[in-house]
Amino acid sequence: MPDFDLVVRGGTVVTASDTFRADVGVRDGRIAALGDRLTGAETLDAGGLLVMPGGVDTHCHIEQLQEAGGADEETWESGSRACLAGGTTSVVTFSTQFKGGGILEPLAEYRRRAGRAMVDYGFHQIITDASDDVIWRQIPQVVSEGVRSLKVFLTYDPLHLDDRAFIRVLAAARRAGALVTVHCENYDAINWRTEALLADGRASPKYHAWARPRMIEREATHRAIALAEMVDQPIQIFHVSCSEVAEEIARAQHRGLKVWGETCPQYFVSVASDMDRPGFEGAKFMCSPAPREAGDHEKLWQDVRRGTLDVISSDHSGWSYGGTRGKRVNGEDAPFRDIPNGMPGLAARLPIIFSEGVAKGRIDPQKFVALTATNPARLFGLAGKGSIAPGMDADLVLWDPARKTTLTNALMQHAIDYTPYEGLEVTGWPVATVLRGRVAMRDGKVRAEPGSGRFLARGPYDLIQPTGVLAHDFDASQFA
Ligand code: URP
Ligand code: ZN
Ligand code: ZN
Repeated sequence: MPDFDLVVRGGTVVTASDTFRADVGVRDGRIAALGDRLTGAETLDAGGLLVMPGGVDTHCHIEQLQEAGGADEETWESGSRACLAGGTTSVVTFSTQFKGGGILEPLAEYRRRAGRAMVDYGFHQIITDASDDVIWRQIPQVVSEGVRSLKVFLTYDPLHLDDRAFIRVLAAARRAGALVTVHCENYDAINWRTEALLADGRASPKYHAWARPRMIEREATHRAIALAEMVDQPIQIFHVSCSEVAEEIARAQHRGLKVWGETCPQYFVSVASDMDRPGFEGAKFMCSPAPREAGDHEKLWQDVRRGTLDVISSDHSGWSYGGTRGKRVNGEDAPFRDIPNGMPGLAARLPIIFSEGVAKGRIDPQKFVALTATNPARLFGLAGKGSIAPGMDADLVLWDPARKTTLTNALMQHAIDYTPYEGLEVTGWPVATVLRGRVAMRDGKVRAEPGSGRFLARGPYDLIQPTGVLAHDFDASQFA
């Protein structure tokens, strides 16, 4: 009788702190032992491969509900397939709110849809309308149901919150014990520049970058940090595009504030001039904050190495290039202002970061694991996820560190009709993905059933406790 249900044999295990040779023994969906010559009912040969924790993508948009009805094009089934193809086993996606409405109904509908997931999943709750009922009743309710992070946008119509509403959300999160994630760009500055650009006849995708230069991301980051400090509420700054923004985060961290920074693969491989491709093609690269310049990539790697930015997520967005629902929803001649933002990247995240980071000698494999699995799991309270140790969920990716691949859209396995990374050569590739002890992807073939993913209800955890340091020692969040 074998000791384990599954043994991953002969690989090199990589965690955020160590690299060592071991077999991984799995029982009842959990890692039961790390050892030598383990025997299992099923064996997965990992000779010559790295065995790493399955990727944890804590910022991706999958089947997100749309105000006009329905949801974006990436469904839970297709999005899960892309995750597993790319070595990711857990995601945190977004339940949304539409202005004038509450958060409970969309959350119920979103949970129903996520019932078809094939990876494990948690949610951030987007707040776009900080009404009294949302702030005092609904936020505590969704947090108690395990949605332990809120997302706010400081820009975008119709999503953005003004400073007063943002402060109210910070205070509500402090009371409820949730983390707040923030999209930092200055709303008024973007609108002012956008109007000027359009008045001057500059409407093509390339002007997306002109409308939102780096200092408006830096300003909003500085403001978000100052307001979070005033409330004494931990925050994560989403999708940091450049070092000027990371500097604001580093300064806050040196002062002992609970401020974390996330960045995404696009900010290491895309540049503003990608949006200047002929015709409408630049729309494929439109995301916010906008990709910067080639010289920014190396500086961002420095911020990663220093630990200022400690999570790399995909910010996957489900907008196709062709058809009439995605990038062209307002027609091919739409001004940049009216083209949906975001790019797909669920399956590309790990290969790009491994290739640009590890294969090119910028980070070691342990740092790769920390950035893409361990740190996001820890920051968002995903118990049992993001590491390889007895007792953890048996979420693993078997990785060929030498395999060279040219990225194509077919390899991404998402529902979107393009990848912004078409033709990019990467070194390092996922060979198999294991979710809670089940081999869910092998050699690119996904073998998982819709509904096999589990909801990750997130309870309270220490890391996101406020520091207790308050301006004038007065906790205004108890009153307003
Ligand atoms: O352009 C982006 N990043 N789109 C997705 C939504 C967001 O801002 O995170
Ligand atoms: Zn955002
Ligand atoms: Zn996003």
